[in-house]
Amino acid sequence: MASKRTIAVWMSVFLWIGLVDAAKKCPPGRAKSFLMGFMGHTGSTATMSMLHKHSHLDVAWPLVEPMMNHNATTGCLWTRMFFEEPRTTIPGFKLRPHKVIDDKEPWTKLIDDYEVRFIRMIRENLFKAGIGLYSVRVLEDKAAVQGLMKGEEDHCQVHPESCYFDVESVKLLASLMHTIHEGNESVENLAREMNWSCVLDITYEEFQKNGEKLMKRVENFLGIPYEGHRPDFQKALSDNPCEVVLNYQDICGYFYDCPLFRPFVEDEDAGCVCVNKKGKHDPVLCDHELLKEAIRQDPDEDLKTIGDTRTN
Ligand SMILES: *[C@@H]1O[C@H](CO)[C@@H](O)[C@H](O)[C@H]1NC(C)=O
Ligand SMILES: *[C@@H]1O[C@H](CO)[C@@H](O)[C@H](O)[C@H]1NC(C)=O
Ligand SMILES: *[C@@H]1O[C@H](CO)[C@@H](O)[C@H](O)[C@H]1NC(C)=O
Repeated sequence: MASKRTIAVWMSVFLWIGLVDAAKKCPPGRAKSFLMGFMGHTGSTATMSMLHKHSHLDVAWPLVEPMMNHNATTGCLWTRMFFEEPRTTIPGFKLRPHKVIDDKEPWTKLIDDYEVRFIRMIRENLFKAGIGLYSVRVLEDKAAVQGLMKGEEDHCQVHPESCYFDVESVKLLASLMHTIHEGNESVENLAREMNWSCVLDITYEEFQKNGEKLMKRVENFLGIPYEGHRPDFQKALSDNPCEVVLNYQDICGYFYDCPLFRPFVEDEDAGCVCVNKKGKHDPVLCDHELLKEAIRQDPDEDLKTIGDTRTN
């Protein structure tokens, strides 16, 4: 047993060294500029709200998405102008992957010219993210988009129907989870395909668990001192899926046997466990292409609530 454990320890040491080695080290000193790649509903606005307060940073407004009205081509020109503004602070903002990937050439040059450091923000838990998006899309609750602002802390008392609800369409929930997964992959591609000065990985889960620790990592990555700012937004929904989804026991069995979803369906720390794990397995839910086809053929599904993956 001991030797097995020793091997496991060494394996993870080597793996860790391998990973550290693979990541490009930041040049010493302060960053010249940065961008954060994100897809909807990953806590990126809350993270930006902390960075925005940092005296060494100049975060473009609006925090939610300064590139909203640009495509990759016009956005690159705008970014160059923004980066060029005379300042002593470090400019940066967050953007969606296709705002770069759709026109790589000028961006390659810009990333080179301004030695742009890249922060990759993803959300690991597909199930919780899916539930949050479900409340946004189906129940039209906007609070879960970016979280709650000061003064809105009683949101769930005032609107219990958008904080605790039945998931009535498993197809929609599955479709949202696939969308989030694909968003994660496109942020991953953006990190890999461009020649960033260096890359930092952060997750929503980390932000939620210990925002201060995450901020320290980001500040360290950008080469700026820690200032201890707090986010403007709080998570809108409970973190326990069994609390939010009233019919959790009805729906968990649909997802448990999908390899992509299984790791996220239960939250054992919160005591949220699926009783009938295999009861309702449906391979269509596991495969985004099959699912899209099934939704197209099902007149009961409300297509407009699924929307465009690029805006979420
Ligand atoms: C962006 O829009 C401009 C002008 O509206 C157009 O010329 C350009 O081709 C577009 N770029 C992309 C990548 O769609
Ligand atoms: C997101 O992408 C990363 C890197 O490819 C992967 O390790 C992780 O499992 C993905 N997570 C989700 C929820 O898709
Ligand atoms: C990537 O960026 C580095 C530093 O900015 C530069 O020296 C190198 O030539 C670039 N590599 C490619 C393939 O563009």
